Amino acid sequence: MKKYIKPLKIGKLSLPSNVFYSPLAGCSDYPFRQMAARYQPGLMFCEMVKMDALIRHEPSTYHLLDYDFSMRPIGGQLCGSKPKLAGPCARIIEELGFDVVDLNCGCPVDKVTKDGSGSGMLKNPELIGEVIANMVAAVTIPVTVKIRAGWDDDNINASLITKIAEEAGAEAISIHGRTRQQKYTGKANWNHIKDAKKAANSIIVVGNGDVFDAKAGLALFEQTDCDAILVSRGTFGKPWIAENIKRLDNGISPLTPDVKTHLLDHMAFISSYQTDRKALQDMRRIGCWYLRSGTGTKKLRESLNRSKNLMEVEKHIREYDWGQTNFN
Ligand SMILES: Cc1cc2nc3c(=O)[nH]c(=O)nc-3n(C[C@H](O)[C@H](O)[C@H](O)COP(=O)(O)O)c2cc1C
Repeated sequence: MKKYIKPLKIGKLSLPSNVFYSPLAGCSDYPFRQMAARYQPGLMFCEMVKMDALIRHEPSTYHLLDYDFSMRPIGGQLCGSKPKLAGPCARIIEELGFDVVDLNCGCPVDKVTKDGSGSGMLKNPELIGEVIANMVAAVTIPVTVKIRAGWDDDNINASLITKIAEEAGAEAISIHGRTRQQKYTGKANWNHIKDAKKAANSIIVVGNGDVFDAKAGLALFEQTDCDAILVSRGTFGKPWIAENIKRLDNGISPLTPDVKTHLLDHMAFISSYQTDRKALQDMRRIGCWYLRSGTGTKKLRESLNRSKNLMEVEKHIREYDWGQTNFN
């Protein structure tokens, strides 16, 4: 059987594996990455930060870039379309100690695309090249870019952008198989990733979209010939997914982690990082992530949603009848 999971080099940077965890705004925060680090994805990312805010040294933006050593190798992701800001912003990411700096050309949110940033950049591939070239000129760490297949079905241009990114000096390109028009609905079309890989010469091609379990992770490698995969929503409530992809590749049975313990550990990380109010909000969301794949969890989910403080949340988790749940 062909083996897909292996160490990978992006430029001069050696990564322990070719299974990465995505930048996820509002989700891949510090506590999330503390959980993820336990299972050693080859590379993980902070949430995207806006170039305009970074250059103004906004504290809340810097806060999004908090990380600790356990999370390395780690990438910072920039969102913006101004070539003049791209170099200085990439340098800030490098000076903060990040291993990689990535350019976001995939965010579909209107507020972001209306000034031509995020997936708005897909409409202007030459500008993507210009922004990347300025980032490359400013830093010594690898510069990478994350795109979608295209703006819509009539404007698929992932292969063209792959070539432009390579020419501009990017070391890797992640391709989300959906178009901007799809946002997060429908299926990711992996054929666009396959085509981009064919178009690539030396640039690392990273497949992205719809990897929700280990089988899909290996299928993405197999069907597209990509060099690495980027797991996104598949990490929600499953920080161990990278380990299970590796295990499946090696024919080893998967980890079946104890959900109660993970939920409590994640909660401890959240409580020590966030304010009580934010921690309570986060626990409702995160509780749902961990519990939705199991049966017999509905009552606990409801209790978490009704909880008025963290003490109540913890009490519900600890006192729940976990014997009635099943996560297989
Ligand atoms: C809540 C959420 C936040 C996201 N934030 C980012 C982000 O900050 N930067 C980025 O490049 N992509 C972001 N994405 C897109 C994902 O990284 C990924 O490309 C997309 O979810 C497709 O993969 P999936 O189908 O496996 O989830 C986000 C997606 C979601 C659902």
